[in-house]
Order: sequence, then C-alpha cells, then structure tokens
Amino acid sequence: MKRVSNDSNTKIAKGEMDGKGEEELKLAVVGSINIDQTVIADRIPHKGETLPGHGLSYIPGGKGANQAVAMARLGADVAMFGCVGDDDNGRKMVENLIANGVKADQVRTVKGVPTGIAIITIGDNDNTIIVVAGANCKVDRAYVDSVKEDLLGYDMVVLQHEIPLDTVHYIVDLFSEHNFPVVLNPAPAAAVPAEIIEKVTWLTPNEHEAVLIFGEDKTAEELLRMYPGKLLITQGSRGVSVGLSSEEILTVPVRPAKVVDTTGAGDTLNGAFCYRIAMGDSVEDALRYANTAASLSTEKFSAQGGMPTAEEVEKAMKEL
Ligand code: RIB
Repeated sequence: MKRVSNDSNTKIAKGEMDGKGEEELKLAVVGSINIDQTVIADRIPHKGETLPGHGLSYIPGGKGANQAVAMARLGADVAMFGCVGDDDNGRKMVENLIANGVKADQVRTVKGVPTGIAIITIGDNDNTIIVVAGANCKVDRAYVDSVKEDLLGYDMVVLQHEIPLDTVHYIVDLFSEHNFPVVLNPAPAAAVPAEIIEKVTWLTPNEHEAVLIFGEDKTAEELLRMYPGKLLITQGSRGVSVGLSSEEILTVPVRPAKVVDTTGAGDTLNGAFCYRIAMGDSVEDALRYANTAASLSTEKFSAQGGMPTAEEVEKAMKEL
C-alpha cells in the first residue's frame, strides 16, 4: 500500500499502484454515528425566540456515517468504524449503514451510553446543529487498538472531529507511520496541531474552520498556496478551492441548486472527494465531481436523503 499522491497533475491510480482493480479498493471512515432530530421552521430562531416548527423527523446522521454513506452511494467499498449505544437508535443507525451498502461489522455497541444525537433546525436555506456525542465518545484509543489490524487493511482512512480529538490524532499518527493516506475533515471546528497537518494527506476545512486552525492573519488564498495538494477549503456561496502543485488556485463555483436542505452537503463533498481521489482522479476532476454531488445533496431533505448515486452525478455534470 502506498501514500496517495497529492500532485494535481498526477492520476492517483491507487488501485493500479498496488495491482488492485477499482473494485478492490477499500475505504474506511472512523467517525461519528448520530440520529438527527430535525425540525423545519420558516427561519432559524433568534436567541431567546420561540418559533413554530413544521414536522419533526428522526433520521440517520453523524458526519462520519454521512461521509461513509455518501461514498457508498457513489459505488465505493467502504466500512464504518465507530460506536453506538445499546438502544433502538443505535440499532437503526447500524441497519441504515448496512442498507446503504456500508460495512458495519466493526461498529461497536456500547452499554450505558446513548447513541449520539444531533438536534437540527432547518430554515433560511441553512441549519443550526447541536450534537450530544453519547457513544461517539467511546471511539477511543482502546477501540482503535481493537480494530487496528483490520483498519490497516484499508486503502484510505477518512476522519472528522465528532469523535475524541485524541483518537483522531492517534489514527493520523498510525496511518502516517505506515505511509497510508489519511483525510481529515476538521468539522466541527477545533484546532489541528501543526504535526497533524503535516501528516495528513488532505485537510478539508470550511472557511470558518480554516480560520480557527490557521488564524486570521492569512487569507484563504495564502493558505491554499502554502499547502498545495493538501488543503481544500469550502467557502460557502464562493465555492470550493484547492491549491494545485502548479501554484495555481482552483476554485470550483457552487452549482446552482433548488435547495431544500443543506444538512450533510459538506459530508457529501468530503465523501465524494475522498472516493474520487482514491480512485485515481486528478484533484481538479475529483473536486468538480464532489462539488456536483454536494449540490445535488441539497435538493432533498435530510443529511443522507439527497446523497446522489454516481449516475446522478454524471448526469448533472453533463448538464452543467
Ligand atoms: O454534517 C451534518 C451532520 O452533523 C448531521 O447529520 C449531524 O448528525 C451532525 O453530526
């Protein structure tokens, strides 16, 4: 197994490098599994304000599980590593992963803690989210050690910030020691130590997370030039940008969409980008593909409800 190249001019033929066909390429997500308690309102309430809601839903979510499902919808062979509580929510979330084609053999059911839950309000074409981590806190070093042998059999590991940061850094160290590709989507926002930035293959913050990680004194453009082929920054309505090895900055504009719900759009982008990069796309191709997938995901309700299939992404890209 070899590190995925970050060179935008190079086809990252990971499967070819290892003599593997595309169908054998295996991706792993170590991350959160939540149930999303979602309410739609006319707009996001102000501080101290009460608004009527239009319907309440309990649906699969969690940034880790969302990214795994996004990849599986696109055709990836992907496994989820994480923890749920010994409760109905946990069982339903595992069933949902399996129903979406995500391997869930290593998802641990932990007694005495509830499955993670996210309280989501949707309004104004945006959302607010509060997460109660529950069993996601049990994705600790001991859990990683117990699945380590299996985990190191994957071709790429994808991480977010909804499990303990100590675990995230532990996995980055583990994978980089073995020279394996690791992608960190640092959401929700938290500082990322310089040595972790150094070790990851890709870091994919949004613009707010980028400020928290790198400080306010550098513009997104300056940061992208500092980390070509490593840093990808999503910038809301301004699209998504990456620094290429040619020193150019590639910005892919937002694809126009009839937005219903933006929840999970970032997860769709991350999942699609990781999958396409692992499959050997150039950075530019992977980003355009991921951007289209993310935009399609906003046209339906819920984090996972609008995640597109490969056919849907390809059709939308032709129409662009
Ligand atoms: O990124 C969206 C996700 O964030 C939701 O599904 C919710 O569970 C929170 O983790």
